[in-house]
Amino acid sequence: MAATGAGESKKAAAGSIAHSKTLLKKRVTYILKSTVFPPEPDCLRELRLATATHPMAVMAASPDEVQLFGLLVEMLGAKNSIEVGVFTGYSLLATALALLDDGKIVAIDVNRESYDQIGAPVIEKAGMAHKIDFRVGLAMPVLDQLLAETVTTIALALQEENVGRFDFAFVDADKVNFLNYHERLLRLVRVGGLIAYDNTLWSGTVAAPPDDETISERDRTLAAATREFNAAIAADRRVHVCQLAIADGLTLCRRVA
Ligand SMILES: C[S@@+](CC[C@H](N)C(=O)[O-])C[C@H]1O[C@@H](n2cnc3c(N)ncnc32)[C@H](O)[C@@H]1O
Repeated sequence: MAATGAGESKKAAAGSIAHSKTLLKKRVTYILKSTVFPPEPDCLRELRLATATHPMAVMAASPDEVQLFGLLVEMLGAKNSIEVGVFTGYSLLATALALLDDGKIVAIDVNRESYDQIGAPVIEKAGMAHKIDFRVGLAMPVLDQLLAETVTTIALALQEENVGRFDFAFVDADKVNFLNYHERLLRLVRVGGLIAYDNTLWSGTVAAPPDDETISERDRTLAAATREFNAAIAADRRVHVCQLAIADGLTLCRRVA
């Protein structure tokens, strides 16, 4: 039967949104069960389950998202990577597993407590600890330091700049500074390399009307910053971009200039 008054059509709309949300949840559950969990490496599973016991577990990337990172890193044949925002090291381990054997990840976090307590023992057991170069600090000065640093390549005994040396970067911290990180990462990541930004849908609030009272002040501010970031990236001709509706929104940028 067709809804008649404004109240009824609102109810019908709410009903259909709830239905779509349920379907979306079921779709993700299906993807996890059918495609993500069966081939998941044991160590990644162990760290995922250990991370789930942390009171801030919601901060970790989603299993389907880290599976995608593994695939992308493999396809890039990546050797050097950067991760901004480590937490327990869940996405870090997924990246480390896919990097070449002599690869390295510069892992940046203001705090390494969750990593030391939960992630580090699993990463050690998985034989991946040699790939992690953990830097404790705010991301901005650490990225600036990376830009200023040179590294010695053992094979050639040469000093090499960090500029253009990285194949992949994942940014998962401090959303309001994404554009500042972008400028630095565009110098650190090589042409053809990939930069991935997390939470670019900010729980879907980017698409909400500005007067939506169900959204908190903090989320409104972060949604506005995220919208600004998304618009800037879409207009940035130095990258080829693709935004995926996976997890909380993931934006992939391939450096082309
Ligand atoms: C969303 S969590 C990272 C989750 C991780 N990538 C994963 O998937 O398991 C964000 C992390 O960023 C760190 N963080 C927040 N602001 C930061 C900043 N300005 N610089 C560096 N790290 C920061 C926090 O301590 C936290 O551990």
